Amino acid sequence: MEQQRILDLLGEMSLDEKINQLFQGCGSFYTEGSVATGPASEQGFSEKTILEAGSVLSVAGAETIRKIQKHHMENHPHHIPLVFMADIINGYKTIFPIPLAQGAAFNPSVAYTGAEVAAKEASTAGIHVTFSPMVDLVRDARWGRVMESTGEDPYLNSVYAKALVEGYQGDDPKKPGKLGACVKHFAGYGAPTGGRDYNNVELSERTLRDDYLPAYDAAVKAGALLVMTSFNTLNRIPSTANKWLMRDILREEMGFEGAVISDWAAIEEIKNHGLCEDKKGAAKLAMEAGTDIDMMTTCYCNYLKELIESGEISERLLDEAVLKVLELKNKLGLFENPYKDADEAAEKTIMLCAEHREKAKEAAKETFVLLENSGILPLKKEEKVAFIGPFTEEKSIIGAWSIFGEEKDVVSIKEGVDHYGANAIFAKGCDSIDPGKEMIGMGPRYACRRTKKEADAMIEEAVEVALKTDKVVLCIGEHMAQTGEAASRGDITIPKQQKKLLRAVARVNKNIVVVLFNGRPLDIRKIKELAKAILVVWMPGSEGGNAIAEVLYGETSPSGRLPMCFPYSVGQVPVFYSEFHTGRKLDYSNLDNKFQSRYLDIPNKPLYAFGYGLSYTQFAYSEVRLSNNLMEKGDELTASVTVRNTGKQKGAEVVQLYIKDDCGSVARPVRELKGFKKIWLEPGEDKEVSFKITEEMLKFHDINMDYKAEAGSFTVYIGCDSDTDNQATFNFI
Ligand code: GLC
Repeated sequence: MEQQRILDLLGEMSLDEKINQLFQGCGSFYTEGSVATGPASEQGFSEKTILEAGSVLSVAGAETIRKIQKHHMENHPHHIPLVFMADIINGYKTIFPIPLAQGAAFNPSVAYTGAEVAAKEASTAGIHVTFSPMVDLVRDARWGRVMESTGEDPYLNSVYAKALVEGYQGDDPKKPGKLGACVKHFAGYGAPTGGRDYNNVELSERTLRDDYLPAYDAAVKAGALLVMTSFNTLNRIPSTANKWLMRDILREEMGFEGAVISDWAAIEEIKNHGLCEDKKGAAKLAMEAGTDIDMMTTCYCNYLKELIESGEISERLLDEAVLKVLELKNKLGLFENPYKDADEAAEKTIMLCAEHREKAKEAAKETFVLLENSGILPLKKEEKVAFIGPFTEEKSIIGAWSIFGEEKDVVSIKEGVDHYGANAIFAKGCDSIDPGKEMIGMGPRYACRRTKKEADAMIEEAVEVALKTDKVVLCIGEHMAQTGEAASRGDITIPKQQKKLLRAVARVNKNIVVVLFNGRPLDIRKIKELAKAILVVWMPGSEGGNAIAEVLYGETSPSGRLPMCFPYSVGQVPVFYSEFHTGRKLDYSNLDNKFQSRYLDIPNKPLYAFGYGLSYTQFAYSEVRLSNNLMEKGDELTASVTVRNTGKQKGAEVVQLYIKDDCGSVARPVRELKGFKKIWLEPGEDKEVSFKITEEMLKFHDINMDYKAEAGSFTVYIGCDSDTDNQATFNFI
């Protein structure tokens, strides 16, 4: 529809209609088939609000959505269509690996493909917008939502943010099979104090701008249609009420022109943060800050009219917000086609089709990270191997945000290994949840009612099985409900019963391969002590079992690298590679000197570094070659290495470029990722890998908060992970 027609429509709407256009209700107001994904705010919604609402979340299904939309259009005074939104985070029905796993692929096309498939399936089910990508930078493994992010690095997250938005939206979200993208959670949500969800966030403006904002900016520049506010405070102001964040940074500096939607109940929660006394006050603060859509509270629909009629806020602010919502619907083509891609017939064939399953399997294989391998992997198909552990048959491996995915559609390890035709025997050994425990708020399905006696008998049976084979593959990890929203953990180790199983098996069989399921980096020191190989498979999605079988048996070499380091222990957290020197950087050659930045009882370095991962082959790097040792303003350099596959199997190497600003007007990180390339090499093959180094890559917020590069020396590192010492230096003048 022409922009003028949109403006005319806005002019024709009554005050009530405009206010209700900003309300987003849960699908349960319209049908019983939806999924509640946040705290149920007290109902209090009028029938008029429901009838004149602007959008709906968490309902799916072509028939259901067509019915809701038809009824809504017939009853709305101006027949304005609803926009349907939902959390399609790593797939709709065909579930891909969780985003943290996708980050481990160090290959944005894995994310692009996953988003593309998700968009095709979800749009066919009638959904118009996904609340994705979540691009929050994460450096605290206690926080449950690290599973939704692509990791601890601003550059990696920015590359993935762009790929995800483009995967969902294509070149025009109005086109068939595309979704509008909603980037979240703006901003800084990934750094809650204590790693505790919804907690206060304390970031300096420089850290916010240098580290936390780039990925949101990348998503906005890629054309994301919406931005979602975050639950946290920043500078002690809740994002949803934070004018500086929403108007100055998001709209003015980043140039975002789309709609801003609150997170679930976040407008009302402004009151809980203590910035106002009631919902009316919350509505005022949110509207002034520029939050357009109110997800699931009565703040806007029940109090904006009073605020406008009393002159406490101007109707102009309301009109600006409503215009953003109408423009969103127009960008999705909903005025011309309110049903968009909802198609009951296509639903029956596209969901989990062979093509989508194959893509999910290939994606999963690229996300696995091999942390240890004595040479015990890859397995041989004909050798008899015992697969032991709860995750041999566990189907809850699709991640905490796969709200439309179904575990019945998941391929377990047992199914995958049997399908592969390997010579294997199996024993569960224990449940993925400790005896007598349950996942809070997740319902009876996520609980373990086994008695201690029963649980111990299972371990004994597993030990018997471990005695029958030369090798054991131990499939263990945290339950998927131990990560995700409101799932922070103070103890980031695997469940107790699984530790017991590991020890029991290790007592009778030393040839243990651990396949680790996790939604976050875990403290795996005990596992490292007892295992001869460790393959991190995260939450691998619908095709997990097939992907794991093919990698374990060497069909493909593991090629993932850690997008977030694995801490030595939770005591180190938050821990990340791009740290600072401090005034007393730990000198490992002088550990007798007490007065250095260190712990008395644990090392400074994580157990496994950012960017680390092994392959079934080995690689050798040449020294770093620079096209010049001098770089002038506006110039660029080329940095190159030659990488050789010195092993006996084809494999992938993620060649990583880091740059260190050796001296700046403020403290600079010890290094920062500025590029990466994933290359596959045959045995004996070598390849030159080059990176362009530009002035833009050297910029940061200097002592005056100006974003620019400063003259001086820079060190270039190119290697296999963030610990590489393969370096060369140049001067920027
Ligand atoms: C949740 C999450 C957010 C999600 C929203 C809608 O509370 O914080 O990521 O998109 O509600 O389900």
